[in-house]
Parts: sequence; C-alpha cells; structure tokens
Amino acid sequence: MAHSGDSVLILDFGAQYTQLIARRVREQGVYAEIFPCNASLESILEYNPSAIILSGGPASVYAPDAPKCAKEIFTLGKPILGICYGLQVIAYELGGQVDSSASREFGRAELIIDYRDCPLFSDLPGKTNVWMSHGDKLTKLPEGFYIVAHSKNSPIGAIANDEKKIYGVQFHPEVAHTTGGAQIIANFLFDVAHLKANWSAANFIEATIEEIREAVGDKTVICALSGGVDSAVAAALVHKAIGHQLKCIHVDNGLMRRGESKEVVHTFRDHFGIDLDFVDASKLFLDRLAGVTDPEQKRKIIGKAFIDVFVEEAKKFSGAGFLVQGTIYPDVIESMSFKGPSATIKSHHNVGGLPEIMSLDLIEPLRELFKDEVRNVGRSLGIPEQFIERHPFPGPGLAIRVIGEVTKPKLDLLRSADAIFLEELHSNNIYHSAWQAFAVLLPIQTVGVMGDERTYDSVCAIRAVTSVDGMTADWARLPHDILAIISNRISNECKGISRVVYDISSKPPATIEWE
Ligand code: XMP
Repeated sequence: MAHSGDSVLILDFGAQYTQLIARRVREQGVYAEIFPCNASLESILEYNPSAIILSGGPASVYAPDAPKCAKEIFTLGKPILGICYGLQVIAYELGGQVDSSASREFGRAELIIDYRDCPLFSDLPGKTNVWMSHGDKLTKLPEGFYIVAHSKNSPIGAIANDEKKIYGVQFHPEVAHTTGGAQIIANFLFDVAHLKANWSAANFIEATIEEIREAVGDKTVICALSGGVDSAVAAALVHKAIGHQLKCIHVDNGLMRRGESKEVVHTFRDHFGIDLDFVDASKLFLDRLAGVTDPEQKRKIIGKAFIDVFVEEAKKFSGAGFLVQGTIYPDVIESMSFKGPSATIKSHHNVGGLPEIMSLDLIEPLRELFKDEVRNVGRSLGIPEQFIERHPFPGPGLAIRVIGEVTKPKLDLLRSADAIFLEELHSNNIYHSAWQAFAVLLPIQTVGVMGDERTYDSVCAIRAVTSVDGMTADWARLPHDILAIISNRISNECKGISRVVYDISSKPPATIEWE
C-alpha cells in the first residue's frame, strides 16, 4: 500500500456514486479506499482505517437480501459517516427506524440546518441546496443521536452522535449538485475525525518508488508500453525507481493512429532515456486479421497476436522477474465489486494472461489511483502535457474503426481522415471539449461527383462524445462551421472518401466505438 498516515475506508453498498466519494475524500488530500460492504471485520481491522464512510445503495434495509456490513464497526470507536443508505444502515443497526416513504425524493432539495454547532456542518449557511435520491427514510432516531438538519420530505435529513463521532446524512454530499458537499466532507475528515491531509502526487511517487525498489531488488522488469496514459505513467514511475533495470517493449501492431508509434519512441527513448525495444509487427497483425469481419473475433485475434509478439520479444530478457501493468483503481473496484463485475458488452482483453504465460510477478504501481490522479502523477514525472491529456484509445486500435475487413489501404485512409479530424479539433481549441473523438471508415460506397466525374467512394463517419467515464456518453455538439471545415478537408484530402457523416448517437443505446 503506497500510502502512510491517515486513510478512510469506504464500504460500498452498491451506489452509483461510491467512486465519487473516494475521489472527493482524496481531493481533500486524504487517502481513501473502497471495500465491498460485506468485507469481513478481520479485513477491516487489518486495514485499520482512521475513519469509515458507508456509501449509498439501491436497496431497502429491511429487504431480505439487503446488503449489510460487519455490525462491530460501530463499536470500534472510529468516526463514521453514513450517506443515504449508509445513514439507514446506521439507524437500522443502532436501534432507529426506517420506513418506506410515500413521497420519494429525487434531485435537488433545500436542506435546513437546525443545529449549526454540529461539527459536520461547520462553516455552512443555515440553508443549503443538496442532492437527494432515496425512497426509504428515517422515522425514528437511534439512541444517543440528535437531528441536525431536515428537508421538506426528510424530517430527519442528517443525524449526529458527537460523542461516538457517528454521523449520517440522507443526501449525497459527494455530488456536485450539493452546494456545500465538499465542505461537509472536509468537516468530517478534519473537524470530526481530525485526519491529516498527506495524500498528494509527490508523496505517492516517493512512497511508491521505495516500494518498487524493495520489491524488485536487482531483477529486470519488463513493461509493454502501448502509448496509452496508464502504461506511460506506470513505466515512467518504475523507470524513476529502478532506471535501466526496466526494459520497455512497444509493439507497433499497424493499428495505431498516424505518427503514434514514432511519438512513443521519441518520448520514452529520447526524452526519458528509457530502454525501449521497438517491434514492428504490423504485418503479422494484418495477416492474421485478413478476411475477418466479426468485431469480437478481431479483438480476440489482436489480443492473441499481441501476446505472441510480446512473449517472443521478451525472450531477450530471459532473467526478468516482473511485468509492469498500468491497472488503475476503477479496474480494481470493478473486479471486486460486491455486485460482481458488470456484464461484458465488449471484451476489453488487451494484455490479459501475460503474467501467467510468462511466469512473471506483476507490478501495478497505479492500482490505487483514479484517472485524474494518474494524470497528476504523470505531470509530476515530467510526461509531456499533450501525452497526458490524450483521449482514450482502445487496445484493438483502428481495427475496430475499420468496419468490415481490415486492410492496409483502408487503415491508411482512415489514419489520414482521423489525423485531419484531430488536427482541426486541436487547432480550434475544442479537442478537450470532447472525451473522445475519432473517425470510422464504413464498408459502403456511395455515389458522389468530383469535377465532372461520377465517383463511387467510401463513407467516413466522425464521432465525438462527451462523457465522464465512458460508461455513458452523449454526442458532442461540435460547432457546425468547424464540422464543415473537417468534412471539406477529409473529402478533399483523403482520396477514396467522398462523403462524411457526423454520428449523433448517444450511449446507450449506441456504444462509443462502432464495433
Ligand atoms: P464502448 O465502445 O464500449 O467504449 O462504448 C467505451 C470505452 O472503451 C473503449 N474500448 C476499448 N478499450 N479495448 C480497450 O482497451 C477494447 O477492446 C475496447 N473497446 C472499446 C472505447 O474506446 C471507449 O473509450
């Protein structure tokens, strides 16, 4: 665990906002980690948190299969904050009463703070806007608690037991719509629990470097550098810890965007002085993809080809003991969620299975970080900004953006259209208004006219979406005059494309990628 000092444990009862709670706590400079609500008391004691937060959740506490946590946490003397369902768990376990409410409360509500001396609400006005999302509500206080605040539909909107340092709020302080939300979380951390804020990118880097050195000793460590932010930051961090003991391998699968492989080599070999092996395996990937049109099949072939190429290349480093992977915290949470990993819509297996096949131990230096924290660590390590702020790019690359069979000429055509699209977004300063933006080459020809000639050329779709985490997305409202320039440039400069369409589908029901 690459943190020392205070840390908050968040028990997850299945709310969509649980990750947000952890991020809000970390934004205050305090480390926070999420455990499933049914984590054993032993594991909680072993983790030894300085304070505990109980998340919201969709269930009703009296439902037969309602999620519960180890009841003993209430006797540990640790400060506890229950949010929404978390508040109801406190009431249920400590002798209060929760009833299903006739008037459910969703969205904005006005919270009236009745007892302003409560440390949880210090520095807040008497009335504040909060975000509610609940059916059940508290109807009887548990023993030893008092009511701190109410709203129109929640006569018991917040409760406190100052002596035991146990607090509960019916609303969601972690969402941006709750005006004083950050203040309430800060109050819990610093005024109630008296924690120290010592979680920062710099502290993280320092502690992690120590850990990596200790774990690795004098062994060689291998890393697959894809060009994505996560593997780049992981590699830079490990390189800072162990220098030339780290050997990176970049595989050009022929499915990258224009100039991407070159940029990876330039940044990491020339700028950072990292030992980087560059493998041009584009022919092997394209040969294996010949004739394949099914999207899942493409993903499987690419995943397998990557492993084959990487394992072969890594033979150069036969004494290696470790493999670096850029796993980040949302991946970890997803795999241990008490609801189970969410249903797979598309398999995202990019390098899965590598450590077992190569019998190497894993180093995952970023497995405790959220994406924005990974970016901050990357900045502190000196990775160039344009690299850090790049849109996500799927492991199977352009193969899932050439719809139908993937060939070199189609990839080249798509690369040129994609480069124009991204270039215009950058030069018009709107690249960052989209979460992801890319071009797709469609396997249909349509009639066009160029000069006096009738043409029968391909259609290129361009897609730009706004999103927070890629789970849901909306199409970006790019200005029409910029879309006009993009369309014009693509059809003029990319020989073989005569028609450009803009994708106006949201996710759901569409997905972000076309395949
Ligand atoms: P979808 O298309 O599922 O995409 O809405 C959500 C996000 O995931 C990326 N994506 C992938 N990433 N391997 C990856 O590493 C994959 O096979 C893959 N498929 C989709 C997609 O680019 C978007 O950011």
